[in-house]
Amino acid sequence: MLTGQALERFKRANRQSIIAGESPAPEITMPSAWPDAHWKRYRDVGQRVLTSMSIAREDKESRKRHYEDMYYLYDAPCAIIICVDRSLSIEYAMLDIGLISQTICLSAQARGIGSCIMAATVSFPRHLRKILPITEDKTVVIGLVLGYPDEDSPINGFTRARASLDEMVTWVE
Ligand SMILES: Cc1cc2nc3c(=O)[nH]c(=O)nc-3n(C[C@H](O)[C@H](O)[C@H](O)COP(=O)(O)O)c2cc1C
Repeated sequence: MLTGQALERFKRANRQSIIAGESPAPEITMPSAWPDAHWKRYRDVGQRVLTSMSIAREDKESRKRHYEDMYYLYDAPCAIIICVDRSLSIEYAMLDIGLISQTICLSAQARGIGSCIMAATVSFPRHLRKILPITEDKTVVIGLVLGYPDEDSPINGFTRARASLDEMVTWVE
């Protein structure tokens, strides 16, 4: 768990990497392409976030500033970085990582603390490895940030679209 000055150093280095135009280099393989339905949802949520902040698609400057904020982890005061032992099967370990990530988010929510799971926390793992005692036998997988949400900030109120149950479930009787 990263807080205080160590987190501040990380947030600045992470943001600087994106400003400098570095390509993200996460330690787990990120999808290079998405199936149509997933790509549509991915684009839709991004669009909703930008719309909530009144940022038009063609407004490159504001979008750039938003991505810089994102790599600054939206100035959250706490980040949790989840790593996995390299000797484990990554596919199977992902079940545990998904479970623990969501459990942390739900436990935080129950205490009035907001959370955001963020791939942007692990795009430049060398910054994390400089600050955290992550040994070579561990792979950096994902991070999430925690904090008391600023309810007045429009990004915290963007409207969500959820896939219908019928899209997600095959009903067999
Ligand atoms: C694996 C994963 C990585 C994500 N990475 C980011 C990220 O880097 N930046 C971001 O703003 N949101 C990211 N998100 C999306 C947010 O965590 C959140 O799910 C999204 O804003 C939708 O909010 P909701 O889950 O409250 O509906 C990611 C979500 C997941 C599951």
